[in-house]
Amino acid sequence: MTQSRKILVTSALPYANGELHLGHIMEQIQTDIWVRFQKLRGHDCLYVCADDAHGTAITLKAEELGISPEAHIQAMQEAHETVSKGFLIEHDNFHSTHSVENRELAEMIYRRLDGNGHIARREIIQAFDPEKQLFLADRYIKGSCPKCKAPDQYGDNCEACGATYSPMELIDPVSALSGATPVPKESEHFFFRLPEFATFLKDWTRAGHLQPEVANKVAEWLDSDLQEWDISRDAPYFGFEIPDQPGKFFYVWLDAPIGYIASLKNLLDRTGGDWLDYWKRDSDAEVYHFIGKDIVNFHALFWPAMLHSADLRTPTKICVHGFVTVNGKKMSKSRGTFINGQTYLAHLNPEYLRYYFAAKLTGSVDDLDLNLDDFIQRVNSDLVGKVVNIASRTAKFINKAGGTLATEVAEPALWQRFVDANESIAQLYEAREFSKAMREIMALADAANEYIAAKEPWKMAKQAGQEAEVQAVCTQGINCFRALITWLKPVVPELARKAEAFLGETLSWQQAPSFRGGENINAFEPLMVRVEKDKVDAMIEASKEEAPTPASGPLADEPIAEEIDFNSFAKVDLRVVRIVKAEHVEGADKLLRLTLDLGGETRNVFAGIKSAYQPEDLEGKLTVMVANLAPRKMKFGVSEGMVLAAGPGGKDIHILEPHSGAQPGQRVM
Ligand code: 2FM
Ligand code: ZN
Repeated sequence: MTQSRKILVTSALPYANGELHLGHIMEQIQTDIWVRFQKLRGHDCLYVCADDAHGTAITLKAEELGISPEAHIQAMQEAHETVSKGFLIEHDNFHSTHSVENRELAEMIYRRLDGNGHIARREIIQAFDPEKQLFLADRYIKGSCPKCKAPDQYGDNCEACGATYSPMELIDPVSALSGATPVPKESEHFFFRLPEFATFLKDWTRAGHLQPEVANKVAEWLDSDLQEWDISRDAPYFGFEIPDQPGKFFYVWLDAPIGYIASLKNLLDRTGGDWLDYWKRDSDAEVYHFIGKDIVNFHALFWPAMLHSADLRTPTKICVHGFVTVNGKKMSKSRGTFINGQTYLAHLNPEYLRYYFAAKLTGSVDDLDLNLDDFIQRVNSDLVGKVVNIASRTAKFINKAGGTLATEVAEPALWQRFVDANESIAQLYEAREFSKAMREIMALADAANEYIAAKEPWKMAKQAGQEAEVQAVCTQGINCFRALITWLKPVVPELARKAEAFLGETLSWQQAPSFRGGENINAFEPLMVRVEKDKVDAMIEASKEEAPTPASGPLADEPIAEEIDFNSFAKVDLRVVRIVKAEHVEGADKLLRLTLDLGGETRNVFAGIKSAYQPEDLEGKLTVMVANLAPRKMKFGVSEGMVLAAGPGGKDIHILEPHSGAQPGQRVM
């Protein structure tokens, strides 16, 4: 056993705007397993996290909900903490970036950067929404691509042709917040002088703090020119005002990672420790950040550079993971595979997922696929079929014979395999190679099961005089089970807790390979039930139902009709018409009678648009009709064609209107 280490661990601070989904959960499970492993090994390890609570998106969401940003982030934090607890994530502290500690630390770090000459100030021009009276981030501006003219593109790049540009280059830009045309406006911004840290970062990113593939990616950024980083935002902004700079706020990503320290400080202020013991430059503590591959630049460039300038230590390791896919595809709301933490918890045991993720996690940044059939199969076969099975096959014979374990190891060779595995499994956990650790543990579970199957204690138990042999075999089985559960304890803590109740002891890594004999165990209670496919299906169905309207919108409600050939389409004669008269129809709730000028011919058409239009508003408008539809006799008269309209119904129906230059009678193609 190595000396006790002092370790601080974090996972990325979830943004306080949305619920935790399986991507967040996977990261927290990965972190929690690693932390529980360290604690089980006897190290002094703290796991802190917080909600990332600042930025324009928070203000907008709160506005939409009709509550204050403070009330919104508080509700989100409570929801996040509940879900994390549901997955047995054991944070030592869960705080918020909108906290006194974070304000104090952000101000302190900023003053140090500024004092060292690492903050630049200059005027920049940005898009400003004159109606909302705020500067617009790129994602809040839409318009047509300046290069390929594709409509409805965001302010930074075109999804159609891939071009990148500044938002003011968009053709006909509009603010996605108000619909107003943004205007260019100048204001002073504050920049962190990242380029000054190029040499420091080149060394730091090659000094073992990053996985090799991450270091290579970062090297590409370091080889191209580093840009100064804009760390300020103008009021109104939900965040911390920059000291002595009224109306200027820290950009959310400036104070987000400082939130790691703030959460630790908040914890240690209560427990009587000092955050600087972890963060001073010569600290002997280790610091690990678990993050997703999408936020590497913030953690492997800006963050170490800021810490370096602020005379604080840099992280020991940035542990980067990939994205979660479900059934081999990106999580999708319409397929029901965009699964929220709480939806999972409403249907399934969190330890199934903890084990499945552990069985697939490696130390690399590869994406991790949750294949739902494999999930059911793997959990049932490994946890229930292999591990729990060992205890349920052997405990009853010990229990029946008075509950005392034999004193001798029955099969020393098998036991030696367990003893030898203890350190190698620990090394795999340490390296975050959980999948290899699970494989090694399950191989030993297989060996234990084979031993028990060959000895058949259930047969011996029926024969007189075999009591000692049954006790010896089952004692061996219980000891194997005890070691397996110890090694699995970081992954399935609740299962381990139940097993500990039955074994009558608290399991720790040091005792895992020691043989326990001559003592009593308690009555065996079932430890885990199998995953049921029905419950997995129900979770997917529930996720589909939760999908918000855009994802499940008109296309999902009314899928595209069966394909037709061009000739069939060409048979439909669509024409521009002018509505010369529109009137109510006596006794009809939905219909208006329209008199249409088809450019020399007049048609009488009944249209089901009464809920959306006053007749007088329609008169004079151009629209489009199906001109060659066979006349249909309706209750109120004959309808000679059909006008085109779109919308779900009620007030929300819109007739199609051609451009004002179109002439009645013109063909629409
Ligand atoms: O990507 C995100 O969701 C961010 N809220 C993560 C922040 S991690 C840390 F830097 F605070
Ligand atoms: Zn384009």
